[in-house]
Amino acid sequence: MNLTGKRILLGITGSIAAYKTIDLIRRLIDLGAEITVAMTRSAQTFITPLTFETVSRKKVFTDLTQEPLSHITLLENSDLFLIAPATANIIGKMASGIADDLMSTLLMASPVPVLMVPAMNNWMYENPILQRNKEILEEKGIEVLEPESGDLACGHKGIGRFPETEKIIKKVIEILKKKEDLSGETVLITAGPTREPIDPVRFVSNRSSGKMGYSLARVAWRRGAEVTLISGPTTLKPPVGVNYIPVERTEEMMKKVISSFENATIGIMAAAVADWSPEISPHKIKKNGGTLTLRMKENPDILKKMGDRKGKRILVGFAAETDNAVENGKKKLIEKNLDMVVVNDLRDEGAGFDVDTNKVTMIDRKGRVSELPLMSKIEVADRIIDKVIELKRSQNLS
Ligand code: CTP
Repeated sequence: MNLTGKRILLGITGSIAAYKTIDLIRRLIDLGAEITVAMTRSAQTFITPLTFETVSRKKVFTDLTQEPLSHITLLENSDLFLIAPATANIIGKMASGIADDLMSTLLMASPVPVLMVPAMNNWMYENPILQRNKEILEEKGIEVLEPESGDLACGHKGIGRFPETEKIIKKVIEILKKKEDLSGETVLITAGPTREPIDPVRFVSNRSSGKMGYSLARVAWRRGAEVTLISGPTTLKPPVGVNYIPVERTEEMMKKVISSFENATIGIMAAAVADWSPEISPHKIKKNGGTLTLRMKENPDILKKMGDRKGKRILVGFAAETDNAVENGKKKLIEKNLDMVVVNDLRDEGAGFDVDTNKVTMIDRKGRVSELPLMSKIEVADRIIDKVIELKRSQNLS
C-alpha cells in the first residue's frame, strides 16, 4: 500500500530495540509516509535525537517545553500515533493515567488511533501487572502488537522481542486503511455465557470468558461501526464507545437481541448461550444427604431465531465443537441460515474458552473454508470483520 500523505507520529521509548526503529522509519518513508519522532528521556540514552532527525529529516521532539502546545499540535497533524518500542513504563503510565512528560501527555491527549509495540525482557512482559496494564489499554481501544518470541537482548529466550519491521508496517497499514471501513454499519454482537438460576443462590453456566465477543466489539467500533454488545456475566470491562447491554439469562438475552436486531445491519453471535435451563426453586435447595436431580428444559436458540428474520443482514454465528468441527460448523450454518460460521475446535491448544488466543476456521455460505492460524482474539476479530466486509460487498454487487 502507498502511504503517501499519511502522517505518523512515532514515539520512541527507552528500550534497546530503539535502534531497530531506524529501519522502520526508512521503510515507512519509502512507502510515502511522513514521520515525526518524539523521544522519551530514557530513549535518548540509547540513541540520540540527531540520529532520528537525520533519518526522518524532521525536528525531533523530546520535551513538553520545547514548543508550546506540542502535545496537541503534533497529534492534530497525525493520522496515527505509533509507540515503538513501548516499554513497560509507558504502558504502565498510560494504564494508570499518568501524564508527566511529553510522551505520556501525548498519549493522554491522543484523538488518533494508537498502536503500541512493546519490547522488553520476557519476565517483564509476562508479569501479570504488565499483562493487566496491556488489557486496560486494549479495553480503551489502544492496539498493542504482540511481541515475538526468541533471543532477547538480555540473553534470555522468550517472548518480548521487537517484531520484524514488516510485521509492524503491516499493522500500521491495516490500521490506516481500516480506520473507517465499517462506518455506516450497525453491528450487534453477543458475548459471554448466559446464566440460568437453579435457586436464589445457585446457577448453571459455562466457561465462556466473553473475550472473543468483546474483541469483536472493540474491533468493529474501531473500524467505524455503531456497536451494540449484549453480554452475559463476565469479568471484562465493556469496550469504549459501544452500547453495552448486560444480561444474565438466555431469555433475557433473547429479548434484548430481538429488539436490537431491528436496527442492525450485521449480527455476530459469539455468546456461549446456555442450552438448557433448570426449573427454578424459589427457595434455596437444602442438602438431604442424597442426590439432587435437576430437570432442565431446552432454551430458545437465539441465533436460529435471528436467522429466520435475517433479511439482508449479514449474520455470523460461532460453533464450539469437540468432534468433526468443520462438518458440524457447516451444519449449523445451514440450519441457522447464516452467512458465515466461525468454528472453534475446542481440542486445539490455545483455542476456545478463557484464553487470549484463538484458532478458528471461517466457513461461508458458498462453502469457502479459511483456516486461520493461532492468533490473538483481537487479530481473529479483525479477520472476521474483514470477511464480513467482503460478504457485505459481494451481497451489494449481486
Ligand atoms: N446460540 C444461540 N442460542 C442458543 C445456542 C446457541 O444463539 N440457545 C448460538 C451461539 O451464540 C453460537 C451458535 O449458536 O453463535 C452455536 O452455538 P454452539 O453452542 O456451538 O451450538 P448449539 O447450537 O448450542 O449446538 P450444540 O450445543 O448442540 O453443538
